[in-house]
Amino acid sequence: PKPNGDPTAMLMKSYACQRRTPLKHYNSFLTEALEILSQNAEYNDNEGRSVAFRRAASVLKALPRRVRSMQDLRCLPCLGDHSQRVIKEILEDGSSREVESTRQSEQYQAMKALTGIFGVGVRTADRWFREGLRSPDDLIRTGQQLNREQQAGVQYYDDLQKPVTKAEADVISDIVEKAVHAVLPGAEIQLMGGFRRGKEVGHDVDFLITHPEEGKEEGLMPKITNWLKEQGLLLYQKTTRNSYLEKMDGPARASSNMDRFERCFSIFKLQKSHQSEASGWRAVRVDLVVSPYSQFAFATLGWTGSKLFERELRRWAGQEKHMSLSSHALYDSKQNLYLRAKTEEEIFAYLGLEFIPPSERNA
Ligand code: GTP
Ligand code: MN
Ligand code: MN
Repeated sequence: PKPNGDPTAMLMKSYACQRRTPLKHYNSFLTEALEILSQNAEYNDNEGRSVAFRRAASVLKALPRRVRSMQDLRCLPCLGDHSQRVIKEILEDGSSREVESTRQSEQYQAMKALTGIFGVGVRTADRWFREGLRSPDDLIRTGQQLNREQQAGVQYYDDLQKPVTKAEADVISDIVEKAVHAVLPGAEIQLMGGFRRGKEVGHDVDFLITHPEEGKEEGLMPKITNWLKEQGLLLYQKTTRNSYLEKMDGPARASSNMDRFERCFSIFKLQKSHQSEASGWRAVRVDLVVSPYSQFAFATLGWTGSKLFERELRRWAGQEKHMSLSSHALYDSKQNLYLRAKTEEEIFAYLGLEFIPPSERNA
């Protein structure tokens, strides 16, 4: 039975992976507010609350028009009481007191600055905050113990705060391609993350690397990073070996967020194109991941994002399909078997989902 309301509202599915979410939408004035509350909940180690706000924001991103009144929200999923209160206040008064006081709060601002340092998570930032530290400068001034990653994070803080443009991502793509082909001809490289979803800027550049002959990709990362180092293109790198074993890591832990591919968190030294600029280079965060060919489709799906889209895919798989999805594999608990896939399309089909292209995974 069709309610008389907005026909688009009726079509709104409740999992983000069932919806098309474009990059540009009509409700940033609401989603930005809800995402501040989500972020703040994350800073306070309240994951449930954080996800609830993020899901609410995501529903509004999928709407085909601007929300003008609470009436427009009828029949929409994922909008809890708290989110509705915030939306109502913004619609009526232009802003929400809770959001504005959060935005201005010392804790929110300090946590944002501290977790904005490469290598610093919520837990570390929270400990520092409780010790009275507020910014990267405070860490330097008080001589805090930092690991190698955090040292690089503080050292290149200003550069890493600046968004990476698509043009810069393209230059880095060329460099990565050159490096990979120099050490393993025939390897395939794909741009992942936000840039694959069509973003014009990002906080880093993500790449997935594979080779059609399974096995050739083993131990590839150190060769790539050595090549880059020799060219003077790396300011920092930390490589983690592949630790995925289907027998041990399969069904039981397949839905965990972290994957076990060989990967490298790095900071590139990117030459600026205009020599007139004050300094000739900038630091850029780059993530490199190597996947065996047989897992490439899963890795591609898992590293394209958005983070909420990924989270919702795994929730859908588990709750609705009794399957377990990771960036390595899809396991069907009812049939007791792994489902093989060569393409993202096949994975969506196994999951009983309409295929959503990367540009509409901006949940
Ligand atoms: P920006 O970089 O801020 O533009 O956004 P992004 O969407 O590219 O985010 P990010 O680079 O943090 O992550 C890209 C994708 O890789 C997202 O879908 C993440 O969920 C995924 N990702 C990041 N880290 C991991 C990880 O350790 N394991 C897995 N499986 N996925 C990860
Ligand atoms: Mn990224
Ligand atoms: Mn990344």
